[in-house]
Amino acid sequence: MRVLLVGGGGREHALASAIAASPKLTMLWCAPGNAGIADLCACVPIAAEDVAGLVAFAREHAVDLVVVGPEAPLVAGLADACAEAGIACFGPSAAAARLEGSKAFTKEICAEAGIPTAASATFDDEAAALAHVRAKGAPIVVKADGLAAGKGVVVAATVAEAEAAVTAMMRERVHGAAGTRLVIEECLVGREVSFFALCDGAHAVPFGAAQDHKRAGDGDTGPNTGGMGAYSPPKGFDSALEEEVMARIVRPTLAAMAARGTPFRGVLFCGLMLTASGPKLIEFNVRFGDPECQALMLRAEGDMLAALDGAARGALDRVRVRMREAASVVVVMATRGYPGAYAKGSVIEGLDEAAAVPGVRVFHAGTRLAEGRFTAEGGRVLGIGAVGRNVAEARASAYAAVDRVRWPEGFCRRDIAASAA
Ligand code: AMP
Ligand code: GLY
Repeated sequence: MRVLLVGGGGREHALASAIAASPKLTMLWCAPGNAGIADLCACVPIAAEDVAGLVAFAREHAVDLVVVGPEAPLVAGLADACAEAGIACFGPSAAAARLEGSKAFTKEICAEAGIPTAASATFDDEAAALAHVRAKGAPIVVKADGLAAGKGVVVAATVAEAEAAVTAMMRERVHGAAGTRLVIEECLVGREVSFFALCDGAHAVPFGAAQDHKRAGDGDTGPNTGGMGAYSPPKGFDSALEEEVMARIVRPTLAAMAARGTPFRGVLFCGLMLTASGPKLIEFNVRFGDPECQALMLRAEGDMLAALDGAARGALDRVRVRMREAASVVVVMATRGYPGAYAKGSVIEGLDEAAAVPGVRVFHAGTRLAEGRFTAEGGRVLGIGAVGRNVAEARASAYAAVDRVRWPEGFCRRDIAASAA
């Protein structure tokens, strides 16, 4: 198979490694890729959002399967453009990607399919939204309907905070058009976990759960980030819980999407709150999480390319992939300043020494290789991943590797997976 992978972060490095291990693979390209991915395949300078450019490349190079990492190209219709060109694509159509692109749409699906989620109301009008917030009281959660780079959610502790969020999103348009419509919902209490299912439109296969660490600082302090580390499996996520999530959330969603004529293909990422009354859906994403994907790929067993291709072609029932009975931990190393402003171009050393720690894989996210040296070119720059028999062992290996990386301009959290080890 000739495969084009789209994206250039740690998630895509993990996917590239898994795809490269498949006996089915004859040729792999990645657009745009990064310095770590370039070790595994040819990186082509096409932006992940350049739908026309990607499809033209895929046609020209007789690509059999396009695997899409990030959500933006999916929301922009990359899977639809591939379908028109007769190329299989791992990732949903734009219509099905609304499960991530519109929180109001997801709430509609939840209502229609009886999926457990926070009670909510949707608003197109600021005055009505403000009246609702005042009537419900705090704590309350205010969400911009559309994509807002992970910043469109305010968990408000007071009515004043919720009112300010409504005004900022709807009147001041701090998230642009994403805030034209708001979802205002009940504040759920519990532990958050991410669950993943591979889907082919009709069938779904569970593909593991992971725990993300979203804040920049130890002890869950500091600003929100894309994710500073992850581990898998999360504490207490057993097979009974997995089946409950499949039965109450994943399969009803697939059925509802198919009934609308917009079947979901790709990976359904369920952001869950484990509440006293069972798992509830916080949000869907229509792609793998990053760094969760790195943690999952370290545990995955079976031919990943066959699984991605099966999902793309509606043949997931013939595919065998599962999570090994091992644990994995990924520690993200980021440039000092992230998620705020940071400098580019600092030199990173010690990556070979880090990768030599048993059980460790070094995933690149924002690196460049120039004159034989790796430099940091992004906020999140590396994912140092490790597998072990349990979380404690994987965690010890991951941090042993982190300590071999010589990069004074970088930082990481020291407490990834600490509560589960
Ligand atoms: P999202 O962008 O939907 O993932 O939301 C960002 C974060 O806000 C989530 O990871 C949760 O920590 C939090 N959050 C979202 N919705 C709720 C809710 N209904 N109750 C409590 N926390 C929430
Ligand atoms: N790590 C969270 C995400 O990928 O959305």
